[in-house]
Amino acid sequence: MPGRCWQAALDAVTIGSTPLVRLRRVVPDGAGEVWLKLESGNPTGSYKDRLAVAIVRGALERGDVHPGDRLVEYTGGSTGTALAHIAALVGLRFTAVSSDAFAPVKIRSMAAYGAEVLVEPSDGGAITPELIARLRERAYTLGAESGSWYTDQFGNADIRPGYAPMGAEVADVLGHRLDVVCAGVGTGGALMGALDGIDATGHRPDAVALEPTESPLLTTGTGGPHRVEGIAVGFVPPFLDRDRVTDIRTVDQADAMAMCRRLAAEEGLLCGPSTGLNVVAAIRLAGERGPGSVVATFGVDAGAKYLDGDLFA
Ligand SMILES: Cc1ncc(COP(=O)(O)O)c(C=O)c1O
Repeated sequence: MPGRCWQAALDAVTIGSTPLVRLRRVVPDGAGEVWLKLESGNPTGSYKDRLAVAIVRGALERGDVHPGDRLVEYTGGSTGTALAHIAALVGLRFTAVSSDAFAPVKIRSMAAYGAEVLVEPSDGGAITPELIARLRERAYTLGAESGSWYTDQFGNADIRPGYAPMGAEVADVLGHRLDVVCAGVGTGGALMGALDGIDATGHRPDAVALEPTESPLLTTGTGGPHRVEGIAVGFVPPFLDRDRVTDIRTVDQADAMAMCRRLAAEEGLLCGPSTGLNVVAAIRLAGERGPGSVVATFGVDAGAKYLDGDLFA
């Protein structure tokens, strides 16, 4: 892509300003308000679009990459699809290191945007610390090759600022009424970046990080196999700032999946497992805090990409 045409291409992408909806039917009487920031409206259907545009814009502006170079990342597929989309837009190549543990449609989406997708086999579809480590090693190796650049979704300094508007948009609606923000943690970038955006408004709600009960690494030090794509990666992600997080809690993955089905049938919202997990925790927090309290969480991505599995079967 000649000159700085990539800048115009990035400026033209419409990311963010997503709806914030109040959940009503799945929230029991006597609980506080539960609000869900619906990130599925972003171009590739998840909040990862905010990350991808921030990473690529920063890298191009600094000259870390030039059109024609290759981005490399290991990804369950949401980050990869977002990176594949932005890479295609600005004339970069993209190699995703992924696995058959993640929804097949995510692999197909990355490939559809022109990405090279390397699929590592999992142990029966389970997301394990060993699998994540294997993906990471392969991505590190490829990212070190000439003309390649490892996007580093676990450490890239452009990520938290990229998510800050997501928090600011929540604060714009709920303002100082907001008591708690909760979210499942993969890289932790979305939760910590959103909190940056909220804190910048001068209001500091409590923050609760979440993980599946089946992989309680943050709460017990030991991870395990689980099925909640995108979170609980088997190590403590560097973005997670325990000083800013008030609490870390676990949610059973079966409860998260059941909530996905309730959200679809009762609220008309088709969501994926990590969103179901976020909502289960948000409802519990709103129950503990009681009437008048306000809890917000994130609808990470669109549920349609999980229709092939057993989530809605
Ligand atoms: C579906 C899904 N949910 C939740 C997350 C967690 O977001 P974060 O990595 O910002 O903590 C991810 C991240 O990959 C994801 O793909």
